[in-house]
Parts: sequence; structure tokens; C-alpha cells
Amino acid sequence: MSAQVIDGKAIARTVQERVSLRSARFLQRHGRRPGLAVVLVGESPASQIYVKKKRDACTAVGIQSFAANFPAACPPEALLAHMDALNGNDAVDGILIQLPLPPQFDTEQIIEAISVAKDVDGFHPYNIGRLALRAPLLRSCTPAGIMTLLAETGISPKGMEAVIVGASNIVGRPMALELLLAGATVTVCHRFTQDLETHVRRAQLLVAAVGKPGLIRGEWIRPGAVVIDVGINRLPDGRLSGDVDFAGASARAAWITPVPGGVGPLTVATLLSNTLDAAERRVGTAHV
Ligand code: GUN
Repeated sequence: MSAQVIDGKAIARTVQERVSLRSARFLQRHGRRPGLAVVLVGESPASQIYVKKKRDACTAVGIQSFAANFPAACPPEALLAHMDALNGNDAVDGILIQLPLPPQFDTEQIIEAISVAKDVDGFHPYNIGRLALRAPLLRSCTPAGIMTLLAETGISPKGMEAVIVGASNIVGRPMALELLLAGATVTVCHRFTQDLETHVRRAQLLVAAVGKPGLIRGEWIRPGAVVIDVGINRLPDGRLSGDVDFAGASARAAWITPVPGGVGPLTVATLLSNTLDAAERRVGTAHV
């Protein structure tokens, strides 16, 4: 078997086209563009690249981007004051703070300072709680993006044995809630999991989100599985690699996402889509 490659770039393009249409309609109806504040703290090269991608994507779909860059050493009070200002700014529909934050910040405190109605990253405990209780509002971008990838590929997780490797707040945990909501039987593996291989071998749907290149070996993949690789790892030779041995896994899986060009583009597209959801809900025109 040779897996079919899921083209994340193409699927993200269709999502962004829908967002562009909604954004044009929003401008026509409300006399302003939807607005997204993208806040960067510190100078991490990876975060700078992600933030630039998000800001550029806003411009491409007609969302007004509000940029703020704080130095790594800025006091948490300065960031909290900026959050207050963004929460109270009517031109701002969504607020995103690029993670991880420098160590002097209490990440929970900063996330909880974002108005739940503007939490387009879906990381606020209220939005995570809504997802846990089967009534999602703003959903975390990478897991929601993966659900879009599956839906657009015609894959229903209902009844599937799903195994998630990685239990982070950003991907693993909300991914488990998304897949549970979709009717999968969900296992979450993490650093204390004994015998990762046995769990992976059972997976009809595997989501790898750890950040260790080659962690998931090709021969572990269950024949016919759907393999979603969230890892983005820079190899010593400069190439990007996921967490899964792509060549080995492709020989066994039915579907697989590449790195780059798989999940990454959906994270950005979902952020834009969440911004339109938040904007429409704030002005009271959601679902009309
Ligand atoms: N860092 C890694 N992924 C993400 C994400 O989806 N959102 C934010 N804000 N930071 C991240």
C-alpha cells in the first residue's frame, strides 16, 4: 500500500476562500473589516515566522491585523494592560498571543486575561470547557484544523480507534476532546506512557504531536491507518520533518499528512475562520 497524501495547502486554500467571502460581506454590512490582534513577546525565530505567517494571512483574506511586539524582558503587567486595551477595543474581534511565552510569564494568567469572546486560539479555560462539554464555541486552531482536514478528505472518526501522541494544552488535549466529540475511541499517550509502540500499532487514526523527529516508526503504523503528523522539526541539515517516519509510514497507511504542507496551513486557516466566527458573533450576525 502507498498512502494518499493529504494536501493541507489545498484544503487551507478552500477554507481561506470561504473566509475571504465572509470577510467581504462583514465589511459591506458593518463598515469595517474584522480585526485580529496578533501579539508576539520576545524574539524567538520560530515564533517570529509563525506570527508573520498569521499577519500576512489576515491581509490576504481582508482581516485587519493589529500587531504588537513586546521585548522578552517586558513586565507581565505591560502585557496584561495591553490585553485589557484589546479586550475593550471594538475594532478587535480576535486576540492571539503567540506561545510559548518567556519564562517570567504565567501563561494561564495571560490566556485568562483574554476576553472569551475574542479568544480565537480557543485556549481560554471557558472555551476548552465548552468543547469538553460538547458545546464548542471558539475551538483550538490546530485540532479544529485537523477535524477540517479529515472532513474534507471524507474521513469520519466516528467509531475509530484514535491514538494521540502528545498531551499538550495546544494540541494533544483539545485534539482528544475533538475526537471524542466526533465519536472516536480516544487514547492519549504522553511522556509517562509505557509501550508507546503497542498503542500506535492499534491506531486506525494516529495524531502525532510531540516535536521529536522520527519518534513514530514506519513499521508501527497499522495497515490502512490515517496518519496526522503535527510535528514540525528542523533537522541538522535544515530540512523540516514531522514526528513520523514519513517514508516508512506511507508504505502502510491509507492517508498521511506531509510536513510541511499538511496540518500547518490548516492552523492558520482555522485562526482566520475563528476570527470571522468571533466577529460575526460580536456584532450579532452569526449564522445569518
Ligand atoms: N504556538 C504553537 N502553536 C500555537 C498556536 O496554535 N497558537 C498560539 N498562540 N501559539 C502557538
